[in-house]
Amino acid sequence: MAFAETLIAWYEEHKRDLPWRGETDPYKIWVSEIILQQTRVQQGWDYYLRFIDNFPNVKDLAEADEERVLKVWQGLGYYSRARNMHAAAREIMTKHNGKFPQEYDKILELRGIGKYTAAAIGSIAFQLPYPAVDGNVIRIISRIFGVCDDVTQPAVVKRITEVCETHIDSKRPGVFNQAAMDFGAQQCVPRNPKCDECPFQSSCYAYQNNLADILPVKKKKNELKHRYFHYTVYLFNNQTIIEKREGSDIWKNMYQFPLTESDSEVSIGKPVYSTRETLSHQIIHAAFYVKNVKKLPKLTENQRLVNFNEVENYPMPKIMSMFLKGIE
Ligand code: ADE
Repeated sequence: MAFAETLIAWYEEHKRDLPWRGETDPYKIWVSEIILQQTRVQQGWDYYLRFIDNFPNVKDLAEADEERVLKVWQGLGYYSRARNMHAAAREIMTKHNGKFPQEYDKILELRGIGKYTAAAIGSIAFQLPYPAVDGNVIRIISRIFGVCDDVTQPAVVKRITEVCETHIDSKRPGVFNQAAMDFGAQQCVPRNPKCDECPFQSSCYAYQNNLADILPVKKKKNELKHRYFHYTVYLFNNQTIIEKREGSDIWKNMYQFPLTESDSEVSIGKPVYSTRETLSHQIIHAAFYVKNVKKLPKLTENQRLVNFNEVENYPMPKIMSMFLKGIE
């Protein structure tokens, strides 16, 4: 069965009974989506009913004064959501003759409405075939389709969005989007997803590869990568080997003693010197090992033989010059 079919079949059996379910009024769908942006369904439920009770349509909201809107919102937090809705309601009155816009781009222009919310409203109210990609959808797509890259990267979210675009049920985009939301909220949950009773078992990349605990990958913003650089300082008649760094890594075109890198702290003998340097996204742990040899190893293309006291004339990373200074 195709992805959308399986998803919607799951939804028909498990969908939550929510006060805005089955709603076709774009205004009410809008209110529900804004409330649910930063609020859990359980907490948002009563607020939604209260808000609609106080402001049943765009016109009522636009004509209300801001204090009253904020009063009704009180307790939900993130008050700019309420202020933006109030301003957008006024925009709808002045720019759209009081009628909620029906095109994706026009919906997206309203204050406080981003891509996710525009897609949710557009698909549920007007059957516009835009996937509403939020954290739930990112999680289910990354698991089922095996998107293993860091989902905090916009390019990765874009790829996930494209996957959704190819699979969205264009006849029932609103059902598809809500099915994805409920599936993410109830079945393919962040921790301990219910894989044992999941209709995607046979095709889910994460399940098949035992990666449900790993996906989606989210790199923490300030998580620094640790890299371990082991430099070998060959000595032979006052000569040594240095090599030029190539490729796209840090310190391109700079020189260093022959390097072995590891991603954990392995010890390959006793270093004569060790130090570290913190860069914007990584910490380099450097260890230098002196090797007196009777015969030098064969040079690779990027290596050259130099007198030891000439090494300092080459452009080199700070770590290297720290070593040279350290042994003076
Ligand atoms: N989360 C955000 N929007 C939702 C919706 N329409 N239904 C269920 N959960 C949601």
